[in-house]
Amino acid sequence: MKIFLDTANVEKIREMAGWGVVDGVTTNPTLIAMEGRKFEEVVQEICAIVDGPISAEVISTDAEGMIAEAREISKIHKNIVIKVPIIPEGLKAIKVLKAEGIRTNATLVFSCNQALLACKAGASYISPFVGRIDDQGGDGMEVVSEIVQMIENYDFESEVIVASVRHPVHVVESAMIGAHIATVPAGVLEKMVKHTLTDVGLKRFLEDWEKVPK
Ligand code: G3P
Repeated sequence: MKIFLDTANVEKIREMAGWGVVDGVTTNPTLIAMEGRKFEEVVQEICAIVDGPISAEVISTDAEGMIAEAREISKIHKNIVIKVPIIPEGLKAIKVLKAEGIRTNATLVFSCNQALLACKAGASYISPFVGRIDDQGGDGMEVVSEIVQMIENYDFESEVIVASVRHPVHVVESAMIGAHIATVPAGVLEKMVKHTLTDVGLKRFLEDWEKVPK
């Protein structure tokens, strides 16, 4: 399973890219706003750090506007993937952008039917928001499981990016389901590598090594 970082924080991306496990990055308008910096500047820097798909989102809500924005944003770097909300205008935009060779990531996906339509329109990636489904009392991972099954049934080319990941268990469940990608906040990636027994074990190994005659 590929792991993307779900952040626009360049320092975190640089640090974690060094771990050798980051295959791509996803951003959204909220994450960009948190950085207090210009959109193009941030996206450009991210592209220079991670050599993989970098999702940047359009803010227009009509197909024409989305397409125009997508054409501009994709000029920033060859690895840019355009995040498009899964609304009817978004479907139109995805179809046109696909024909132009611009990759898209259908975002704000909360159901298998939305994912099916995004696959049919030609989205390269589908992003179900598991945490937000859970927040509403639903089962986010169940929706992911349906989408993965649907893609397998019909051999669609789209890949599933499990998004709105809130904790490490979401990542384990994504891997068990066979989702292609999980996009994780930096804090979740930190928790994934951490285990108390690893820390205790390492401490003991180092202490015991001191007892070895030198
Ligand atoms: O990138 C979109 C998604 O991951 C947002 O997550 O935590 O705001 O629901 P969250």
